[in-house]
Amino acid sequence: MSDFIVARLRRRYRDGEPIHSVTAYDYFTALLASETQMDFVLVGDSLANVVQGHSTTVPVTLDEMIYHTKIVCRHFPAGRVVIDMPFGSCKADAASTVQNCVRAFQESGCGAVKFEGATDSNIEATRILTEMGVPVLAHLGLLPQRVNSDGGYRMQGKTDKAARELLRQARAMQEAGAFAVILECVVPAAAEMITRELKIPTIGIGCGNVTSGQIIVMHDILGMLPGKAPSFAKQYAQLFSTALAAVQQYRDEVSSRSFPEVGSESDSTEQPAGSTAYLRS
Ligand code: KIV
Repeated sequence: MSDFIVARLRRRYRDGEPIHSVTAYDYFTALLASETQMDFVLVGDSLANVVQGHSTTVPVTLDEMIYHTKIVCRHFPAGRVVIDMPFGSCKADAASTVQNCVRAFQESGCGAVKFEGATDSNIEATRILTEMGVPVLAHLGLLPQRVNSDGGYRMQGKTDKAARELLRQARAMQEAGAFAVILECVVPAAAEMITRELKIPTIGIGCGNVTSGQIIVMHDILGMLPGKAPSFAKQYAQLFSTALAAVQQYRDEVSSRSFPEVGSESDSTEQPAGSTAYLRS
């Protein structure tokens, strides 16, 4: 299978196979995506939430996105890594959007860029970037970077008019050259209609089982953080509670002096120390 995202997704779409994708932000999450042979990974600006602990995606910067994307590109095929353009790096005008995307693409070494919305300048930037050879993944529906002005996280495309507007935006991004469209929290009927009308794949999150593929935030399916994950994110593991119990046990065993066990220390100097034991070449 191709290690370039556009060719791989085109093939999957042509063959009618579901496209699978997750977010990744670091060595651990990239390794999970790589071992499970995801079609692509997104270094999402959701890292503001799940890695940095902010309440919205607004604070994460372009420099921080590039830093994390470089890490992911070392552990997952770089041609299938997508960098999410953070708040403020797109939309003001097409020229600055193109400049920011080219910088992100070139410095991180990833295979595509993604940005939220289909404003006139985003459509124009998509046209220019596609001509330059920078693949663009569109993102429509719920746009988390607009949460402060839109007043919350709500399902999109509920009325006929809203669904038709989403289709108009998706078509405009497709005509400009976007190779696929992420649909976030679009009601299933509208997501299905858009998927049927487009000639490029739709990748859904919170849209039901009607799109050409699915993407999900890694931390949500692994239960890596305390508190509730979004209702559409099935939790396949409860890593936070497992890790908490382990760290609690370590703490208790240090308190009771039962760790380290007497006589457990090695005299070999060849043993790798600490976390370097887990590094693969
Ligand atoms: O930042 C992100 O994780 C995303 C996905 C939810 C699509 O944009």
